[in-house]
Amino acid sequence: MQTSSLSGKTYFIRTFGCQMNLHDSERVSGMLDSCGCLEVAGPEDADIVVFMTCCVREAADTRLYGQCSSCKSLPAPPGGKRVIAVGGCIAQRDGAGLLTNLDNVDVIFGTHSIAHVAELIEEAFADGGRHVRCEETDLEPATSMPWHRAENYRAWVPIMTGCNNFCSYCIVPYVRGREKSRPFEQIVDEVRGLVRSGVREITLLGQNVNSYGRDLFGEPRFAELLRHVGDTGIERIFFTSSHPKDLLPETIDAMAEVPAVMPQLHLAVQSGSTRILKLMNRKYTREAYLDLIDRVRDRIPDIALSTDIIVGFPGETEEDFEQTLSLAEQVGYAQAFTFIYSKRDGTPAAKIDDPTPREVILERFNRLVKVIEDSAYAYNQGALGRRVPALIEGTSKKDPTRLLGKSPWNQTVHAPVPDGIEAADLVGKIVDVDVDVARTWYLSGAVVGSPR
Ligand code: SAM
Ligand code: SF4
Ligand code: F3S
Repeated sequence: MQTSSLSGKTYFIRTFGCQMNLHDSERVSGMLDSCGCLEVAGPEDADIVVFMTCCVREAADTRLYGQCSSCKSLPAPPGGKRVIAVGGCIAQRDGAGLLTNLDNVDVIFGTHSIAHVAELIEEAFADGGRHVRCEETDLEPATSMPWHRAENYRAWVPIMTGCNNFCSYCIVPYVRGREKSRPFEQIVDEVRGLVRSGVREITLLGQNVNSYGRDLFGEPRFAELLRHVGDTGIERIFFTSSHPKDLLPETIDAMAEVPAVMPQLHLAVQSGSTRILKLMNRKYTREAYLDLIDRVRDRIPDIALSTDIIVGFPGETEEDFEQTLSLAEQVGYAQAFTFIYSKRDGTPAAKIDDPTPREVILERFNRLVKVIEDSAYAYNQGALGRRVPALIEGTSKKDPTRLLGKSPWNQTVHAPVPDGIEAADLVGKIVDVDVDVARTWYLSGAVVGSPR
């Protein structure tokens, strides 16, 4: 542990947004831990409060202001001063501009400057000033920094950062920069190390994992990466996100052939209308997407498909929307994240006028949600009467007598805690569950046999 003036200070991190941010928070935590800081459960007990922000939609954006101002009413910590740091995508987008509206914020650090967070916080404590760092840094990338994992049985493994796709509605490429793949062997070694430390499940992370390696090798090497990671002894591999335009046949083969790759695929479609897909700059058609789904199902018949869909892209007509509905019905998603389009300044779509009334968009959104619920329910019915291996994450928030786990198809699985066993002892274990209830968003049943 290095000597740091932060040693002995307490910290609290609140994270918004996607898994990228959650993982970045683990790196920030890791760095503060290595300075001798101690994580606490709430901002009231913390000398250092870090907000890891998201600006993918407006709702995420506005939450930061409420969170920061609620810190003002907290009693001062024992040391007298509380440093508030804002990181993540809003910090990257707005930089020093945030200081004007957030008068109690001391540190702003962008997505490219995570490696500097500890020194910025030290400076803020030392001089009481406000410190901002958002430019690209050639210091160590975040992925080689200390890492504080919340769980010892599963982990996110970023394989690349950034995005080159510039979908016309999306702010991510502007706040995360261009695609940068981590070295192949570094990822495989990291997974080997995780396996040695008891990790059983990993999720490979990137905005478009299918193009992993393009910047390093001139062509994507994601299929090869899956095979090498699959050879490390890791038991479960998930990955997200996959852009349909880059899902190669060899990746589908690797998914089908590597036993540790779970039968689950998140393939964001965004819209079922080729006209809207073109305006979105997605670079595939409805037909190409459906053809891809057929090819995946040919190789992995029980695959659980999930997706992201945006409703209300500027100019989307009823006819376009019905194309989305019919595509969702045809695919039969096991899960979907549905979003109402949110205008993001600086993106090309923000310049497109949209005469569609808000009520119409909301009504369409609700129709889509219903289709997704029906297909998720139908997908889960397939598990009825089957024995499903669930990796136990803990107990249900609502009912501590029920275990909460995840199936290889990414379904939530509930089961009563077996007699004579402490639920806590099952966390990170795989138990078989005989499924006798299948609802829209979970399966439930009884544990059979011994945990492993
Ligand atoms: N890179 C991932 C992909 O393309 O699959 C997506 C990452 S983004 C963080 C997650 C989702 O947010 C997108 O798939 C899209 O559906 C949604 N999203 C992005 N920008 C949006 C916007 N301006 N309004 C509404 N939803 C948006
Ligand atoms: Fe955004 Fe598109 Fe990149 Fe996904 S692929 S992060 S939706 S620009
Ligand atoms: Fe949000 Fe940034 Fe992720 S904008 S969705 S936290 S990449």
